[in-house]
Amino acid sequence: MAVNFEGRVAYISGGSCMMARGTATAFLEAGAKVVLGDLRQELLDEAKADLVSKGFTAENIATTLLDLTDLKTVKATFDDAEAAFGTVDVLVNIAGVIIGYYKLDDMREEDWDLTFNVNVKGLMEMCREFVRRLKEKGLPGNIVNIASNAAKVCFADMADYNASKAAVMNLTQSMALEWAPYNINVNAVCPGAVDTAMLRKCMEESMRLYGGTIEEMRRTWGPPQLGRLIQPYEVGRVIRFLASEDAVIIRGQAISVDGGNTRF
Ligand SMILES: NC(=O)c1ccc[n+]([C@@H]2O[C@H](COP(=O)([O-])OP(=O)(O)OC[C@H]3O[C@@H](n4cnc5c(N)ncnc54)[C@H](O)[C@@H]3O)[C@@H](O)[C@H]2O)c1
Repeated sequence: MAVNFEGRVAYISGGSCMMARGTATAFLEAGAKVVLGDLRQELLDEAKADLVSKGFTAENIATTLLDLTDLKTVKATFDDAEAAFGTVDVLVNIAGVIIGYYKLDDMREEDWDLTFNVNVKGLMEMCREFVRRLKEKGLPGNIVNIASNAAKVCFADMADYNASKAAVMNLTQSMALEWAPYNINVNAVCPGAVDTAMLRKCMEESMRLYGGTIEEMRRTWGPPQLGRLIQPYEVGRVIRFLASEDAVIIRGQAISVDGGNTRF
């Protein structure tokens, strides 16, 4: 039977970005309702309009503000989500930041702090709030965290980002262990080069520092096995699978979704 999310509610952080839109598409087409949480309302409105333009029903998509550097917004965002659709039983943590390329010697404390506050501490608080609400109701749920292949094979000149994604991968294991008794399954995905605004920013920064052209990078940064960049919807479908009953025997894993670049 095809994967079915009728009656389920998926909260997606970073809700306006391309990765979130691809993931929302995967959940909506399987019958879920989705809540998109992000920093700016106008970008959330744009993301929702984009999904509606693809044929999805506006009533199945809610938006809510979330700022992972301000943890008070975590509780508020779940309140909004519940007000829209009732209990959220899937959490997909997509929100993340990458500051840029620099050597460890040049890293500023504020860059490290922002990277860890959003990518790790904010993500962890999202998970804890999600689980707290499910535990109170005795309901099962699924979490999928977005790490990166940078968690497994560190990228040059972005030690803060690499370390933050390794922390996400490791936290995913602790969460899976601690919350298994509550029927909450937790996994992570580790994407390679996905065609998004963040990747574009990295390409521009790389061009500025090391030369080359965007066209060249678009040709060569994708996994050689695919010969192209990965598309957000391709990642979204794996996320949806991990949040489904079909993935019940996959627990605490960090699945590489990088077209074969990282073979573990
Ligand atoms: N694009 C890639 O190649 C790639 C590869 C591996 C992992 N990832 C991860 O995938 C996720 C999405 O990446 P993307 O490429 O779409 O990036 P993006 O920069 O295009 O989107 C990031 C999203 O996070 C949101 N965000 C940033 N700070 C926030 C905060 N303080 N509170 C709430 N939301 C905040 C942004 O508003 C944006 O919507 C990130 O976690 C990233 O690390 C991306």
